[in-house]
Amino acid sequence: MKNRSIDDVEIISIPKIIDEEGRGKLSVIEKSIVPFEIKRVYYLYDVPSDAFRGGHAHKNLIQFMIALSGSFEVKIDDGSNNKKVMLNKPNQGLLIPSGIWREMDNFSAGSVCLVLASEFFDESDYFRDYNTFLNYKKQ
Ligand code: TYD
Repeated sequence: MKNRSIDDVEIISIPKIIDEEGRGKLSVIEKSIVPFEIKRVYYLYDVPSDAFRGGHAHKNLIQFMIALSGSFEVKIDDGSNNKKVMLNKPNQGLLIPSGIWREMDNFSAGSVCLVLASEFFDESDYFRDYNTFLNYKKQ
């Protein structure tokens, strides 16, 4: 949605179950955690520390992004305001509504970025040009 702002981007806690016998942690994402039907799951890995990912916005797609391992920064931008969010906890996810430009960088070694998405892959849903995105937001 065109009128989404960076205030609509939310950190959501993912329940964490700590094993009583010290065998590690378990986090679970059930349908109720994210406000959309999950149609697709993908993940970024082997990302060099100097790489930039993202650099686009979506017309309809909603995403829930998790640093499953390691850390990285997400810059979110609604065309008027922007802010940076550090993702570094596997029990926290960033809900990015449609109509928000995002850029990811500063990936730590071995980091994994898991993304749950509300739609199947559709290149026509992307704004890959920042000025086109700005014009869309101003319309
Ligand atoms: P892109 O969404 O630009 O990645 P990122 O935002 O992480 O930098 O996608 C990179 C390439 O992968 C692009 O050519 C499209 C392709 N791709 C698919 O084919 N299917 C998918 O589900 C995704 C997310 C990307």
